[in-house]
Amino acid sequence: MFPRQIKQLFIAALLLPAIASATPDKYVGTGSCSSSNCHGSVSPRKASNVLQNEYYTWLKHDKHSQAYTVLLKADAKRMASLMGLGEPSKEPLCLKCHATYVPSPEQRGAKYSVEDGVSCESCHGAAERWLETHAVAGVTHQQNLANGLADTASLDKRAQLCVSCHYGDSNKRVTHNLYGAGHPRLSFELDTYGVLEPKHWVVDEDYIKRKGPYVPLAAWFIGQETLAESAVATLLSPELSRNGTFPELSIFDCYSCHHSLADAQWKRRDYGGKPGRLSVNIASLVMLQHALAAIDRPLAEELGNLTATIQEQFQANGATEALQKTQELLKGSIRPMVMKMAADEKSSRAVMKELCLFGTAAVSPKYEVAEQIGMGIQAAMATSPILAKRHKASLDKLFATLAKPDAFNPEAFVKAAKTLSAELS
Ligand code: HEC
Ligand code: HEC
Ligand code: HEC
Ligand code: HEC
Repeated sequence: MFPRQIKQLFIAALLLPAIASATPDKYVGTGSCSSSNCHGSVSPRKASNVLQNEYYTWLKHDKHSQAYTVLLKADAKRMASLMGLGEPSKEPLCLKCHATYVPSPEQRGAKYSVEDGVSCESCHGAAERWLETHAVAGVTHQQNLANGLADTASLDKRAQLCVSCHYGDSNKRVTHNLYGAGHPRLSFELDTYGVLEPKHWVVDEDYIKRKGPYVPLAAWFIGQETLAESAVATLLSPELSRNGTFPELSIFDCYSCHHSLADAQWKRRDYGGKPGRLSVNIASLVMLQHALAAIDRPLAEELGNLTATIQEQFQANGATEALQKTQELLKGSIRPMVMKMAADEKSSRAVMKELCLFGTAAVSPKYEVAEQIGMGIQAAMATSPILAKRHKASLDKLFATLAKPDAFNPEAFVKAAKTLSAELS
């Protein structure tokens, strides 16, 4: 694909079939991507269809390049020692999320280094079979995928990738133990976090031709749906939930037991009529339900009923049936619908409005919920240039109330959400 001048030389590669592999692919290491002719240019290159400064962006601006380094610092050491673990930089528990973790020496290429942290191959997949061919002119994205490149362009696969570390999966998790030892709170939203990373790619005409368009609202929905599926899988997992009798505490809403850091917040918090009950943490399902109301009200109601049943029954009997039905609804109806979502001003507006209403309905929304509402509104707004322009000032005011978690004032948030909501009517 780039640089363009090698086009003719390698045309034969077009004829190569996907290279089959009997053993798992090797990780070649970031050192194999960082040459200035490849992805290590300091500034973007015009002559190629990718920026070629991806390595530089990752190294200088993307926290993923520091993910291993933080394990060497005092905070990480203290966490590990409180948990009775050894050096965090050698602990699989930490390395699974803070590095391209390759336990088997046979799978490590000559330039592989755990110290690279969350590196190119953490996200793009082990490059042994596609390193040589992926930059050859005429080789298609499909051929690269067949050779083991991870499909980060497809939003559902991308969401699963990010969520595996930013929420956790069956193989890695920030447990209550780890939170207790001081691990920062995990929060994730696919569109916003993609922008924050920051992006080392551009969705231009050429990108759209090769990989399809990017719709921020679709990314938001797919991210929430993926988080919701993960939450449901966690609640159904016998190891973590033990049928609701002796559970891992991090699957519950933290505020069931903890007061917020901000005193004023817990005094005014909304108990939903059930003070003292442990409630499960299914925030993504609740977000999804409210946003779906803008697009398919009966589906949103069905999800709302299931969510209420899960909350009602989890402590008593594990809510297995309702969780399984939710899983089917997510996979069978909601995911296929949001995967097809196109950029459309009307639905973006309707979603913004529903999320504002959700934000203003609670007497005193929790910071974590308010933050998710803010990111959802932002993604919906980013989908339409007209909305983005018209409501920018109000969105800025909403985000100003979210700037400091410790000093969060729910009333100021509700006021800003009401102003935005009024603008949308
Ligand atoms: C399920 C994945 C996961 C596991 C397991 C995990 N972490 Fe993290 N960790 C993260 C993510 C994601 C962040 C970034 C959170 C954010 O900013 O949104 C993070 C952030 C951190 C930070 C703060 C970094 C900074 O820039 O200030 C430290 C320190 C840390 N982790 C240490 C550890 C240690 C030590 C372990 C093992 C005992 C561990 N983590 C296990 C995913 C994980
Ligand atoms: C945290 C995950 C993550 C890491 C780490 C990461 N990438 Fe990416 N990368 C993505 C995503 C997501 C995209 C956008 C989707 C796509 O086009 O596949 C992307 C896109 C790209 C593209 C643009 C592809 C195109 O078709 O325009 C290139 C090139 C790239 N990455 C190279 C790198 C290199 C080199 C590194 C390491 C220095 C790296 N990436 C590290 C997630 C990551
Ligand atoms: C292998 C695990 C892993 C994967 C996969 C991963 N991340 Fe991360 N991410 C981390 C860790 C660990 C940190 C914290 C690094 C630090 O603070 O040094 C982090 C930090 C971030 C941050 C900075 C957060 C902050 O507080 O400033 C953003 C943004 C982010 N990730 C976005 C993404 C996106 C988007 C994806 C998917 C395309 C993704 N990540 C995939 C582990 C991962
Ligand atoms: C079922 C109740 C319960 C739930 C739910 C719960 N915790 Fe805890 N948490 C506790 C208890 C009990 C302690 C120990 C308190 C002590 O040592 O005094 C604790 C301790 C902690 C600590 C250490 C506090 C300190 O002062 O040392 C942190 C941090 C923490 N929890 C975070 C969380 C987070 C984040 C969540 C949600 C993901 C959560 N907890 C959910 C009961 C809970």
